[in-house]
Amino acid sequence: MECPKVKLNNGVEIPIVGFGTWQSKPEEVVHAVEYALKEAGYRHIDCAWAYDNEKEVGQGIRNSGVPRSEIFLTSKLWCTHHHRVEAALDETLANLGTDYLDLYLVHWPIHLNPNGNNYKFPTRPDGSRDVLLDWRIRDTWSQMEAVLKKGKVRAIGVSNFSQRVLERDLLPYAQVVPAVDQVELHLYNPQLALVAFLKSKGIVPQAYSPLGSTNSPLLTDETATAIAAAHGLMPADVLLGWLVARGIVALPKSVTPSRIAANYKGALAAAAALTEEELERLDGVAAGGKQKRLITPPWGVDLGFDNWP
Ligand SMILES: NC(=O)c1ccc[n+]([C@@H]2O[C@H](COP(=O)([O-])OP(=O)(O)OC[C@H]3O[C@@H](n4cnc5c(N)ncnc54)[C@H](OP(=O)(O)O)[C@@H]3O)[C@@H](O)[C@H]2O)c1
Repeated sequence: MECPKVKLNNGVEIPIVGFGTWQSKPEEVVHAVEYALKEAGYRHIDCAWAYDNEKEVGQGIRNSGVPRSEIFLTSKLWCTHHHRVEAALDETLANLGTDYLDLYLVHWPIHLNPNGNNYKFPTRPDGSRDVLLDWRIRDTWSQMEAVLKKGKVRAIGVSNFSQRVLERDLLPYAQVVPAVDQVELHLYNPQLALVAFLKSKGIVPQAYSPLGSTNSPLLTDETATAIAAAHGLMPADVLLGWLVARGIVALPKSVTPSRIAANYKGALAAAAALTEEELERLDGVAAGGKQKRLITPPWGVDLGFDNWP
């Protein structure tokens, strides 16, 4: 089954269901990516330098036999690399074994000390994250615009950017409006106001942790379970289908072949089956007392998100 696509603000099309790779062990992700492309039908893979598995994702892509031109490939600039975007991108391209990305994202609006005590998560002597507090995110973004101009990526976007950070620190200075904002979006953290803001600016929302991530509390949610039963679907299908029906790009991760296939098929089936009344019930679950963020790294910086602990 071909995946519906969403048009980005520069005309590039992105398949609305993508395949997540965070926390997939290198030896697992080779097979998972191969299976996702070759057997399950995915044509969109979401990677990041910080997942420490890009080489294996690249191997999985090559093993699948699916031509690179048919795959939408995303990766992300890590926080210790904001001062050298092009070099970081080149490393990612080499890891993945490709000469371009379809989408490159600023992973977080945070620049961590590149000369700190750890290559990925440097800390200060008191244990707090070694964030360069006076770094201007617009100086990261202008480098992102430069790699876009050079043709090394087909689109650029952001991740974990709140409305406040976008409005205050990026949009007033941007020559290119971000194509997407990839944020934590799921039944218990629907971020309805942020999604409406993004859409008003022509920025496509992408949902990470759409199933509720590791040990998810969402898969047994009573509303999702009841709606799934009414359609003969699985709760995971409903969690994904609700996002897709709302025009949000969903990025489920799995290393389990049966789930990899079920998530893709189920997301598209549920998106077609759910009624507007059911979508509205799902929209309201978090506000009904279930609001919960699952991914809250201790940056020690106010990112401007609602419900950040
Ligand atoms: N930009 C960011 O900062 C950011 C942050 C987080 C995530 N992401 C992206 O978003 C992707 C998805 O988020 P995520 O990995 O946090 O979590 P997720 O996709 O919401 O959930 C993954 C978890 O659910 C399990 N699972 C998958 N399908 C299932 C099913 N049908 N039934 C029951 N359990 C199922 C997986 O187990 P198995 O793998 O064992 O099957 C895994 O433990 C990531 O992989 C990454 O690409 C981006």
